[in-house]
Amino acid sequence: MRIIATSDLHFNVTRSKGPTESIAKEICERGGDVLLFVGDSAGADIGTLEKVLALFEPFSGVRLAVCGNHELWTVGAQDSLHKYENELAEAYSRSGVHYLDQTPFVMDGLGIAGSVGWYDYTFRPSRLGIPLRFYQHKIAPGAAARSDKCSHLLEPSDDIPAGAHEITTRWMDGERVNLPICDLDFAAMTVDRLRRHLEEINDSVDTIVAAVHHLPFAELVPHSIIPNWEFANAFMGSELLGEVLLDFPKVRNAFCGHSHQRRVCRKQGLVCTSIGSTYREKQYEVLDL
Ligand SMILES: [Fe+2]
Ligand SMILES: [Fe+2]
Repeated sequence: MRIIATSDLHFNVTRSKGPTESIAKEICERGGDVLLFVGDSAGADIGTLEKVLALFEPFSGVRLAVCGNHELWTVGAQDSLHKYENELAEAYSRSGVHYLDQTPFVMDGLGIAGSVGWYDYTFRPSRLGIPLRFYQHKIAPGAAARSDKCSHLLEPSDDIPAGAHEITTRWMDGERVNLPICDLDFAAMTVDRLRRHLEEINDSVDTIVAAVHHLPFAELVPHSIIPNWEFANAFMGSELLGEVLLDFPKVRNAFCGHSHQRRVCRKQGLVCTSIGSTYREKQYEVLDL
């Protein structure tokens, strides 16, 4: 059984189009039994998502996907949770791609479960000493100072380290994702659903492969000494995702995306790989079971 996993194709981004077309051709020619899209295949526009999925139609096996945070980006007053549950499910269905966020998949003793996952700021860097309220608003102190909407975060000021005013990161989900619940509740919702899916398939399969867009383990979070990048680590994922994967020993391989940096970590019997596509260079992993 050959499983191919790719992620972060970002087909809505001009510099990602050529590399995505090339890797689609390569993956389809190589072939396999299962192709996993581990999120951020496209952006806000559903039509672009369908276009990128169509590039992989010649793939010989089944195609499965989880959503990325970029698919939850919205236009206007659209609701990201509604999009997650409805419009995206319909788009994957039209494209002949199984939507793992909604239902797990079983084939010949193999189970596949997946989720967008989310972040709960557990990976925020304590070194920076930035108060939690800045992460909740997805804006660093240096950027909040220039924003009418967020300048109130600078009061009180006595808990903000002096150097933090030089950090100007904005995590753009703050502008483009429109969830009716807070990040912590959405993270818990995705983790609970993933746990339910794993419980559903656990007894009927020999082994499980998991796909989660956000990072489940701190070891996969990119290291950086550049404070603007470090601030962004808060939005890389959640330890809760890792905990649910480790609660099911049949999950022996997991793939994630989102960080745009390839890393591998081993936890108990689980090998977890962040695939590492960047905007310009697309990557995929091959797993033979
Ligand atoms: Fe991405
Ligand atoms: Fe992402």
